Amino acid sequence: MGGPSLARAVERLVAAGCVAAEEEAAAFVAAARDEATLDAWLSRREQGEPPGWITGTFVFCDRVLQLTPGVYVPRYQTEELARRAAAQLPPGGWALDLCTGAGAVAAHLAAQVPTATVIGVDIDPVAAACARGNGVPAVVADLAAPVRRERRFDVVTAVAPYVPTPDLQLLPADVQRYEPRVALDGGDDGLDHVRRVVAAAGQLLRPGGWLLIEVGGDQDRALTEPLAAAGFGVVTPWWDEDDDLRGIAAQTTG
Ligand SMILES: C[S@@+](CC[C@H](N)C(=O)[O-])C[C@H]1O[C@@H](n2cnc3c(N)ncnc32)[C@H](O)[C@@H]1O
Repeated sequence: MGGPSLARAVERLVAAGCVAAEEEAAAFVAAARDEATLDAWLSRREQGEPPGWITGTFVFCDRVLQLTPGVYVPRYQTEELARRAAAQLPPGGWALDLCTGAGAVAAHLAAQVPTATVIGVDIDPVAAACARGNGVPAVVADLAAPVRRERRFDVVTAVAPYVPTPDLQLLPADVQRYEPRVALDGGDDGLDHVRRVVAAAGQLLRPGGWLLIEVGGDQDRALTEPLAAAGFGVVTPWWDEDDDLRGIAAQTTG
């Protein structure tokens, strides 16, 4: 499909209020097998459905991965966590990606350190199946429940739900309408799952192992005590270029 299709697609997505209309239109035009498919995809996008659910793919750390409709769409902002985690994973090491979703973080770890063992866990069977489709051995479970407490992991990562329940209504309308609440709702202060991740990681990581979690707002402050109680001696939050908190890297006392 050529220029006229692209121009029409951009026009429709601009009219629908898509902020990345040109980028999305180019991706749809490149992936659609014919005009009818493109038209159907544009209609779905006009309703607010995530582009990744429509094409069945997303890009994370320059890698094209599969995405099943209904599974949380991995965010560009999480790439920094994945890269930091990969830098801490030694050859032949072990990594556990809790709340793995489509397995984006785990897939990056496995690609960067091919000799490592990387396991994903998600409570949603559809998400775990999607992660497996992306080459990540993933089990369906509540956080680290099925994992033996042998303190053998070098790295634990988690992009757990961390939006405070009262703030869910502030999320973009399309996110509220389409994305699964189980992937977003972190309870009253957003940290119900994250606190459990911190406690579990303290037991699963070897001395000197690293936990990397995604958080926002000023959640780093509320986690200072839980991280210390779980045995993390080094705690390094990071912020993005807009000075928004994006994550915490924490190392167990060696
Ligand atoms: C914000 S999404 C992150 C997914 C993925 N890590 C990513 O960055 O794209 C949170 C994920 O946590 C999963 N989840 C929610 N509660 C969970 C629990 N108690 N145990 C395991 N996974 C859980 C959801 O199903 C969802 O896939």
